[in-house]
Amino acid sequence: MFTFDLGPSTADGVPEHLSTQPDQVRHALSTKEGWQQFVTRTARRPKVLTLTRLKTLDDTKRAQYDAARTAFHRTLVIAQHTQLRSMWEQMANIVNGQHADDGPGLGIAMTGGPSFGKTATSVGFARLYERQIRDEFPAAFEQENEFIPVCYSSLVRGAGLKSQMEHILNFYGLPTARRATGTQLVDELIRVLNACRTGILCLDQAQNLHSGDKRDDQVAAALKEVMDGSHATLILVGIDIDSTGPLAIAAQGRLQASNDRLQLARRFTWLRMQKVDKDSQEWRDLLVSVENQLVLANAKQGDISVGLADEVWKRSKGAIGVAFNMLRSAANAAIADGSERITKRTLLKVPLTIEAAPTKKKAA
Ligand SMILES: Nc1ncnc2c1ncn2[C@@H]1O[C@H](COP(=O)(O)OP(=O)(O)O)[C@@H](O)[C@H]1O
Ligand SMILES: [Mg+2]
Repeated sequence: MFTFDLGPSTADGVPEHLSTQPDQVRHALSTKEGWQQFVTRTARRPKVLTLTRLKTLDDTKRAQYDAARTAFHRTLVIAQHTQLRSMWEQMANIVNGQHADDGPGLGIAMTGGPSFGKTATSVGFARLYERQIRDEFPAAFEQENEFIPVCYSSLVRGAGLKSQMEHILNFYGLPTARRATGTQLVDELIRVLNACRTGILCLDQAQNLHSGDKRDDQVAAALKEVMDGSHATLILVGIDIDSTGPLAIAAQGRLQASNDRLQLARRFTWLRMQKVDKDSQEWRDLLVSVENQLVLANAKQGDISVGLADEVWKRSKGAIGVAFNMLRSAANAAIADGSERITKRTLLKVPLTIEAAPTKKKAA
């Protein structure tokens, strides 16, 4: 039988992660409180102990150490791989100067397959933007009117204009008038973006907009208005949004795309997150960065990046997110079974994701 690892006990009886005190509660990233936690908290990597030292820990200390390690493995410490760095540079070029520009608003569309690391790359970028402002202009966050440099939200499937706008405005925690129309809420969003000096509006799950759906086309048109009316750079993130949805012009060809859609799609700089090639330096570098993050007492340099590079690729098909999640689970398995090292055998214990599972061949 197993027990759940609920973290070490604390003096006042309630560990931090079970506390319902408002400043301890974990908020969703799509609220300003949750976003702020994400930006301002830096996860500290627990020290890697030797196997000998590990054995000297008493039960309580060992439970605390293991809880700290597994928690750290879950945190989003962004590994800066080649693709990500190149994207961040291109994104920064677009964000720079946007606040001073009265021309048409520009956007960034990040597309790619599921679990390619799109969300990690875009939230990592937006966090970097806010962190730099916090470092250089801390007083900006002390102003009477709240300064909110980044808004992170998502697009919802099948929602009309009004619900979509309400969903985004929810980030700011502002109540919206129940009788407000969708159009009024678009104006409200533009007002709030400008009043809070929001420089980046990042909307994830953009694959939820479907082309040919009247309501979704209306939302896409509203987004254009938001880009024009605010000084925020809109970052749309979604699965294959270059081939489906209201921004997709590549798939339908120019002639079939309406002028509205062409105009919208042209406002965006397209960034495509790709799978990483097998046997590439990028793949090895990526694995080295995961290796350096994991906290395992018996791990050796090269265990993953050299010894398991092919196996991890085979199981992830080069999708960065799949590889990351697999290795984090494997690390926790290596803690639980006491081996403190990821080997091929550890990987076999980690369930395959849909992408990695072998497809059944039809009988000939
Ligand atoms: N550069 C990275 N550094 C750390 N973790 C990453 C990185 N890229 C992806 N991941 C992890 O991989 C998983 C899937 O990535 P995600 O960004 O959610 O993919 P997508 O949005 O493309 O579906 C997440 O758990 C995420 O934390
Ligand atoms: Mg995502």
